[in-house]
Amino acid sequence: MELRETIITLSYIASAVLFILGLKMLSKPTTAVRGNMISAVGMLIAIVATLLYQGMSYHLIILGMVIGGLVGSIAALRVPMTSMPEFVALFNGTGGLASMLVGWAEYNKLFGHYEADAVPLVTVIATYLAILIGAVTFTGSMVAYAKLAERISGKPVLFKMQQVVNAAIMAIVLICGAVFIINPDTSLALVLFYVAIAVSLVLGVLVTIPIGGADMPVVISLLNSYSGLAACAAGFVIQNTVLIVSGSLVGASGIILTSIMCKAMNRSLANVLFSGFGSAEGAESTGAMQGEVKALSPEDAYYVLEAARSVVFVPGYGMAVAQAQHACRELGELLEQNGAEVKYAVHPVAGRMPGHMNVLLAEANVPYDQLVEMDDINPIIDTVDVAVVIGANDVVNPAAREDPKSPIAGMPIINVDYARTCFVLKRSMRSGFAGVENPLFFKENTRMIFGDAKATLTALISQFKGD
Ligand code: TAP
Repeated sequence: MELRETIITLSYIASAVLFILGLKMLSKPTTAVRGNMISAVGMLIAIVATLLYQGMSYHLIILGMVIGGLVGSIAALRVPMTSMPEFVALFNGTGGLASMLVGWAEYNKLFGHYEADAVPLVTVIATYLAILIGAVTFTGSMVAYAKLAERISGKPVLFKMQQVVNAAIMAIVLICGAVFIINPDTSLALVLFYVAIAVSLVLGVLVTIPIGGADMPVVISLLNSYSGLAACAAGFVIQNTVLIVSGSLVGASGIILTSIMCKAMNRSLANVLFSGFGSAEGAESTGAMQGEVKALSPEDAYYVLEAARSVVFVPGYGMAVAQAQHACRELGELLEQNGAEVKYAVHPVAGRMPGHMNVLLAEANVPYDQLVEMDDINPIIDTVDVAVVIGANDVVNPAAREDPKSPIAGMPIINVDYARTCFVLKRSMRSGFAGVENPLFFKENTRMIFGDAKATLTALISQFKGD
C-alpha cells in the first residue's frame, strides 16, 4: 500500500473512533459539549484525509467549502434556540440532497465509461438506494422545515386513499429499482432511473404531509436517520469507508432517538407516521374540564414559595419562548438560600427537540446534580411542596393518565398535580402543541400565574430580593 493510502486509511480509522467516542459523550449533559467537539475534530480529520486523494479539482472543492462554510456559519450564529428543529431539518435535507447527487453523478460516471458487467452489483444497488433515500430525505425534510417554520400549516394534510397512493408510489419505486438493478446499462434503465428520482422526490412530500406539528420532532429524527442511510449508500457507491461508517452511525443513532421519543409519548412509530395526530378531529377535547381556575399574582405566589421547603421546576417549550432559563436559575438559587431543596425535572419530550430543556438549563449554569429525570421525580413528587411549571403543558397534562379517550392517553407525564401545590406559569388557557385541553389548570391544588414566564419569574425574584 502506498504511503498516501496508508495515511488516509489510518486517518479514517481515527475519525471513526472519534465519532463513536463523541456520540457516547453526547448521552450525558456533563460531557455533551466535549463530545460534540470530539466528533467535529473527527470530521475535520476525515475531510483533510479525503482531500489527500489524487485527482481532485481543488479549485471547485475550495469554492464549495467557502460558500458552504459561510452559509453554515452565518446561519448557525443567527438561528435562535427555538428554531433549532427546523434548522436540523434543513441540515438533514441538504445531506439527503448531497447523497442523491452523489448517486446521480456516479451513475453517469459508471455507466458512461464501463461495460455493465464491470460494475459490481453492490455498487448498482447502492447507487439506486442513495438516490432513492436521498430524494425522500430531501423533500421530506423540506416539508418538515416548512411546517416547523410555519411557512405552511403545521396540521396533518390528509386525503382519501392516501395510504393507497403512497403504496402505489412505493411499488413504482421498487419495480423501477428491480429493472434498473438487473440491467442498469440500458436506455430503459436510464429512463427508470430518472423516473425513480422524480417519484422519490414526490414520495418524500407525501409521507411527511400527513404528520402533525407535534409529531414533527420525531419525523426530524427519523429523517436524520434516513440522511445517514443515504450517506452510507453513497459511501458504498464511491467506496469511501469513512462515509459508510459515519452514515451508519447517523442512521443508527437517528433510529434509536426516534424510538426513545415514541416511547416517551407512548406511541408506536406507525401511529406517529400514519395517524394524522393533531388533525382537527384528533385534537378535540374528549370531556368537559371540571373545577375552577384559580389565578394567583406573583406577589401572592411569593409567600407560598417563601415558606416552601422543596421546590421542583418543570420547564417546557414556553420557557424556551420566554428565554426564562436564567431567571429560573436565579430564582432557584434564591430559594436555596432561603433553605429550600430545589430540583429541575426534565421530561424527555419537553420542548421541541431532544435535550431542548437540558441545553437551556445548561446555558443558564443550572448545576447538573439538580437535574432529575421524569422517572426519578414521579415517585417522590407527592413530597414536594411546590411544583413550578414553566411554560410546559402537554408533558404535565394529567389527561394522559386519567382520560383513556384523550388523544395523549398513556403518554408518560410528570405528575405535577401530585405535588402539594402546583404553580403553572403561562400566558393564557391555550392548549399545548398537541392541541389537547389540560385538566391540570382546574385542579384544586393548582394556581395559574398568567403572563410571560420570564416576567413572572423576574417579579418573583424581585419579591425575594425585596426590590
Ligand atoms: P407545549 O405542550 O407545546 O406547551 C407549551 C406552553 O408554553 C404553551 O401551552 C404556551 O401557553 C406556553 N408558552 C408559550 N410561550 C410562553 C411564554 N412566553 N411564557 C409562558 N408560557 C409560554 O410544550 P411541552 O409541555 O414542552 O410539550 C412538548 C410537546 O412537543 C409535546 O406535545 C410533545 O409530545 C411534543 N414533542 C416534543 C418532542 C421533543 S423531542 N421535545 C418530540 C416529539 C413531540 P400560552 O400560549 O398560554 O402561554
